[in-house]
Order: sequence, then structure tokens, then C-alpha cells
Amino acid sequence: MTTRYHPVLVALHWIVALMIFMALVVGGPMLAEMDNADPEKLTGMTGHMIWGMTVGVLIILRLITRFVTNKPRKADAGNTALNTLAGLAHWALYLLIAAMVVSGLIMAINADLFAIAFGGSGQALPTDLMIYPARAAHGMIATLLSALILLHIGGWAFHQFILKDRLFGRMWFGKRKVSSETEETPQALKA
Ligand code: HEM
Ligand code: HEM
Repeated sequence: MTTRYHPVLVALHWIVALMIFMALVVGGPMLAEMDNADPEKLTGMTGHMIWGMTVGVLIILRLITRFVTNKPRKADAGNTALNTLAGLAHWALYLLIAAMVVSGLIMAINADLFAIAFGGSGQALPTDLMIYPARAAHGMIATLLSALILLHIGGWAFHQFILKDRLFGRMWFGKRKVSSETEETPQALKA
């Protein structure tokens, strides 16, 4: 057990968080609002597809890093139900991010977007991607993921400002105290 997550895991947490935030709040919605006949749309779509697939690769790397590195013990919110909820919410974050990437890929395959965006097929974009169930799913999963991220930030704020256990420090860079027999608590970061 350690007092902080591994620096690679910390770096990947913040890079992936920023990339997802950008895709959810800026890139994706901007793209969805554009007319498919707009010549600019293809450029935006190509960028979003590369961005989204990069998130997919980074989240896999993050998951691998998570399994092979020493972690702090589970944070204690002082309540069993809340602790279970936090664990479930973390896995649900991974699951929804994966679902975002997979639904995007299925939509792209269904609508032949790879040939259009990267293969220079010259084909016009379909008039409305909503004819594909994967497109509708991509939008719905985006809403669910946004809600879960808000809950995640709420959980962090609860630890940070109510419990005052310095949870943020676990997901930031710094000296990692390693202990083999006693599990470290977030309070240990104060020392
Ligand atoms: C798109 C945004 C975000 C995503 C997808 C995300 C995802 C995750 C995941 C999956 C974990 C679990 C760590 C693991 O076991 O692998 C985690 C932990 C954590 N996140 Fe985020 N996060 C996001 C944004 C944020 C923000 C904005 C904050 C703070 C303001 C934050 C603070 C933390 C902290 C402090 C932990 C460590 C919790 C612990 O030690 O148990 N995250 N995040
Ligand atoms: C974590 C990764 C991703 C996030 C957070 C994300 C987010 C979004 C969001 C929020 C939208 C707008 C949805 C709406 O308003 O209904 C969108 C649209 C879109 N996404 Fe993604 N996306 C991701 C990955 C991907 C991938 C991997 C692909 C394809 C390879 C993709 C292809 C598209 C396309 C083509 C649209 C536009 C659909 C339209 O114009 O109707 N996305 N994305």
C-alpha cells in the first residue's frame, strides 16, 4: 500500500479527464450540431474520431497501469454504503468511457466513416447519423457519463471539504510512502 497512486496513473488520470471533458463538452456537441453537408464537418469529425480513439488507447494503458502498480488502500468515506458506491462509480466510469469509444467505433463502421475520413473515399456523409442505433447510443452514453463525472467530482468535494482527508493528494504527484504491513489512509498524506 502507498499514500498516492503511481505517477503514471496520476498523469493518465488527468490527461484522460481533460480529453474526455473536451470531447464531451466541446468537440462532440459542436460536431453533432453541424450539418452533415457542411464541408468543415469532415475535418471536425476526423479530429474527433482520432481524439476518441486515443482516449480508448489511454484508458486501456491506464487500466493496465492500475493493475500492475502499488495503490493506496480504498478511501474511507466513513460509511459502508458510500464506500461501495464509490467503488462501483469508479468501475462505471471505466465502463462508460469504454462504451463511448465502442459506440463511436460501431457508428463509424456502420456509416463507413473510416473510408470517408481516412481513406479519401470522397463519399458524402450520410444525411443523418441518427439512423444508426450506435449514434443514438453514443449520445445517451455521453449524457450518462457527464452525470457520473459530476457525481465523481461531488465525491471528491465531499472528501476534500467535508471529510477534509486530502483525497486529492492521492491523485497527484509527490513522494509516495510505501508501507507493507499497515494500510495508509489519506490522512497519512498530511505527514
Ligand atoms: C473526465 C473526468 C474524470 C474521469 C473519467 C475520472 C476517472 C477516475 C477514475 C476511474 C478513478 C478511479 C481510480 C482508479 O482506481 O483507477 C478516479 C479517481 C480519482 N479522481 Fe477522477 N476522473 C475525472 C475527473 C476528476 C476530477 C475533475 C477530479 C477532482 C476535481 C478527480 C479526482 C479524483 C481523485 C481524487 C481520485 C482518487 C480517488 C481515490 O483515491 O479513491 N477526478 N478518477
Ligand atoms: C471517450 C471518447 C468519446 C467521447 C467522450 C465522445 C463524445 C461525443 C459527444 C458528446 C458527441 C455528441 C453527441 C450528441 O450530441 O448527441 C459525439 C458525437 C460523435 N462522435 Fe464521439 N466521443 C468519443 C469517441 C468517439 C469515437 C471513438 C468515434 C469514432 C471513431 C466517435 C465518433 C463520433 C461522431 C461521428 C459523432 C458525430 C455524430 C453526428 O454528427 O451526428 N466518437 N461524441
